Amino acid sequence: MSGKKITAPDVAASKGERKLAMVTAYDYSSALLADKSGVDMILVGDSLAMVVLGHEDTLSVTMDEMIHHVRAVTKGAKRALVVADMPFLSFQAGVESAVMNAGRFLKEGRAQAVKVEGGRSVIPQIEAMVRAGIPVMGHLGLTPQHIAALGGFKVQSKTARAAILLIEEALALAEAGCFALVLEAIPAEAAAEVTARLPIPTIGIGAGPACDGQVLVYHDILGLYDRFKPKFVKQYADASSLIAEALTRYASEVRLGAFPGTEHSFTMTDQERAAFKEELLRKV
Ligand code: KIV
Repeated sequence: MSGKKITAPDVAASKGERKLAMVTAYDYSSALLADKSGVDMILVGDSLAMVVLGHEDTLSVTMDEMIHHVRAVTKGAKRALVVADMPFLSFQAGVESAVMNAGRFLKEGRAQAVKVEGGRSVIPQIEAMVRAGIPVMGHLGLTPQHIAALGGFKVQSKTARAAILLIEEALALAEAGCFALVLEAIPAEAAAEVTARLPIPTIGIGAGPACDGQVLVYHDILGLYDRFKPKFVKQYADASSLIAEALTRYASEVRLGAFPGTEHSFTMTDQERAAFKEELLRKV
């Protein structure tokens, strides 16, 4: 694909053509790096509640906090499609508030699409957003906003019956107008069936290799978050160690007086230095 901005219709049209790479990002500099790496989509996930804000789960992050981060990410993402995650209670309560909140992500955050967790129960909201011109990505399987009801971060759709229900929910979301669908923490067999039957791309996270694309959390790829590491995470770098080593060296050089050196300092001209010394002698 060229350097032109990727759109939601581009993503929808890529089904069967090529695999899609998606990563989360939460600020300007990580969005710049993600964009430069050539990923197709950047998700400003509500996972920011955990990996950036230090909460135990994703429930407490607010619309205003999400918009603050979405704004920073859209400034850095020149090519990748930016998807903003609708946080807990920003869409569940009703169609009107769902459209208003989704619209804020496009209007104030300059995102190009939103992501909504849930199946049939949120179809009226999804249909209303789509009617309002807001591209919607669905999210089924493990939906972390339901953690209280699910009893923890657990693999979903493990039985034949649950996998059939998942296929039905996925088809209903595609019918409602979603342009793509995240499938999280489900058996690979179930994800493969959903992928084969759906007209829109599936984006897997812990859903096996048959999905049309994959998504991972930025901090997991780089080894920046060690409080919780699901089986589906592949860590591609140990940035935590690199950063910790750099900060330790910095602190030690400050204590030893080795930093800053002359190359990091500003100086006066010879003439001003001489005048300064003279003034000091006269006045102090
Ligand atoms: O919030 C998030 O980062 C997500 C991805 C894990 C899909 O929803």
